[in-house]
Amino acid sequence: MAHPSAPLLAALADATEDGIFFDLAGIRRGYDTLRRELPGVDIRFAMKSCPVDEVLACLASAGAGVDGASPRELEQALRAGVPVDRMHYGNTVKSDRDIADAHRLGVRDFATDSVEDLAAVAAQAPGARVFCRLAASGDGALWGLSNKFGCSPADAVRILETARESGLTPSGLSVHVGSQQMTADAWHSAVECLADVLAVLGRRGIVLDHVNLGGGLPALGYLDRHGRPLEPPLDKIFAVVREGMRHLREVHGEHLAFVMEPGRHLVADHGAIRAHVARLAERRRPDGEPRHWLYLSCGKFNGLYEMDALQYPLVFPTHPDDEHLPAVVAGPTCDSDDAYPQGHALVHVPRELASGDPVWVLASGAYALSYTTQGFNGFAPLPYTCVGGGRP
Ligand SMILES: Cc1ncc(COP(=O)(O)O)c(C=O)c1O
Repeated sequence: MAHPSAPLLAALADATEDGIFFDLAGIRRGYDTLRRELPGVDIRFAMKSCPVDEVLACLASAGAGVDGASPRELEQALRAGVPVDRMHYGNTVKSDRDIADAHRLGVRDFATDSVEDLAAVAAQAPGARVFCRLAASGDGALWGLSNKFGCSPADAVRILETARESGLTPSGLSVHVGSQQMTADAWHSAVECLADVLAVLGRRGIVLDHVNLGGGLPALGYLDRHGRPLEPPLDKIFAVVREGMRHLREVHGEHLAFVMEPGRHLVADHGAIRAHVARLAERRRPDGEPRHWLYLSCGKFNGLYEMDALQYPLVFPTHPDDEHLPAVVAGPTCDSDDAYPQGHALVHVPRELASGDPVWVLASGAYALSYTTQGFNGFAPLPYTCVGGGRP
């Protein structure tokens, strides 16, 4: 379980209006720890998880690159100071124009998983480097990401051979084991699949220069649907990744470099939302059973998009010693999806909460701003503030 840092708590305590806060020093510390745990792995931050200039600049100054999913993201990363040779276009879904725009920006590394996409890369970004994404089951992850992306081992071989014939450089293989991956086994299976494909490629005379082990590294601060701390086996995951790298180098050669694209692992626990209570209300259901509802000023459409798969730790700073009662937590909009779904345990909240009382939503730094709507129902996106300065 991750605890919010002192600067983050101080910012939350000082806030008089709603907003989201990011602790840059905490993000930087997390990056340094990751580099220590996985020596030799180049980190390309999945900026979709937190497309905030200060966060990008902080990570770039520490040596990180960026995994971008569109020309607009890549352009933002460039503006924030990420060197172009440390970024790649990691989305396998892109139009001709997307590819041409990214190429114009100077991006030379592209993910792919189909011959159609590959042909477009060859046409719009001649001579580029391509890495092929292998499909993974997504088992063990809160969000599997399994259907939409990645190809079979046989297709990967075909695609990389076609790349070579098309004047592109077949540079790597990638895999994503699913977001908030809770098992080390997922990486073990991914490594086995990568090893098989690398062996076949080697026999066909294709020598890749890197393997991209994707995102999926878990955050530590979430609660599960039942309100219990999620406790991902992070040390075991790191050990399996280190061993996997050793094995893949054995199969394909010591020259093989490694990249990872963590998103939530780097930012989730270093961001927190200051929201407020809209209302604590009691309603009877049609069957006559009473139920309390805690409506917050933020929810699925303005900061808590991922509330259908997890719970966030909530702090009620003005009610430290109140008696509690069980309630459904919901957001402020006039939309029934904007609530913890059925199947989530009720949350114990202070009985005396009043409209306007501050609420701190911890571990909410990932996919909060990026999944926020433009202002659904007139609820504006949360303004953000960075604290911590970026040095550990
Ligand atoms: C290609 C790619 N890389 C990295 C990530 C980041 O994943 P995570 O936030 O689980 O680390 C994603 C998430 O969707 C992704 O699609």
